[in-house]
Amino acid sequence: MSGRILVVGSLNADLVVQTAAFPRPGETVTGGDLSTGAGGKGANQAVAAGRLGGAVSLVGAVGADAHGELLRASVAGAGVDVSTVAVRDDAATGTALITVDAHGENTIVVSPGANGTLAPADLPDSAVAGAAVLGLCLEVPEDVVVDAAQRARASGLTVVLNPSPFRAEARGLLPLVDVLLVNEGEAAALLGVAEDAAPGELRDGFAALGVARAVVTRGADGCVVIDGAAAPVAVPAVRVDAVDTTGAGDAFMGALLLRLADGDSLLDAARFAVGVGAFAASRAGAQASYPTSDALAAFLRR
Ligand code: RIB
Repeated sequence: MSGRILVVGSLNADLVVQTAAFPRPGETVTGGDLSTGAGGKGANQAVAAGRLGGAVSLVGAVGADAHGELLRASVAGAGVDVSTVAVRDDAATGTALITVDAHGENTIVVSPGANGTLAPADLPDSAVAGAAVLGLCLEVPEDVVVDAAQRARASGLTVVLNPSPFRAEARGLLPLVDVLLVNEGEAAALLGVAEDAAPGELRDGFAALGVARAVVTRGADGCVVIDGAAAPVAVPAVRVDAVDTTGAGDAFMGALLLRLADGDSLLDAARFAVGVGAFAASRAGAQASYPTSDALAAFLRR
């Protein structure tokens, strides 16, 4: 039976411009038309899991403005319970300024807005009690992340952290985490190893930090799954022409949460998540690029 997924995290309006190449510091370039989409790492995780059929609740905060309405509609449209998304009168909805280049890579600057007002009191006990897994990112205040992880651990949930946007203090959160999801750059920063470190070196580095279970995503090279002392497993990528990688990591995280809540092993969950991340990278936008189960099945049959 499928367990409930709780996500505590951010919601952002993504203001996106396509550009042939990123501007250098001090340079101005002309891009394409501006588009406004639904994003934010927490909301993206929740939508990815919800659109694939998961039972999901999102705890977060938006402003009482048009971007907040857009986000609540997008998240609710994926079947996610938004009754725990607070609407603040005194803060604007979080905003992400995103550029996407011709290779589908991006740069992102986030103005947190209402995300920065989220407090431990915004997470009701009832949301924790009914869930099997908790998804966390670092786009909300650290005391919220710590409190949610502590309460989730006390209630027996599996706590999954994607420490993004990365900051070194993330190391202090690791004792509260059951599964760590990082990209290769975040792994390198956490462990002080090369981005292409061998799987065994990653496993040993995480073990030294007290992390027994981790997934390291490697873009076009798939991911490495570390589960205890066993040999790490390299999962190959699903080949795709990347259009826009914005939110692809969040789609991976949402899929991982979904399958962990279903009781899958970390390896099986990661194998599923690789396909979901590839689907997201093959389409524009964050939440707009996430598949339903049927769309994912058709994509993987190509
Ligand atoms: O991970 C992608 C997300 O990062 C975007 O949707 C943006 O809102 C930022 O939070």
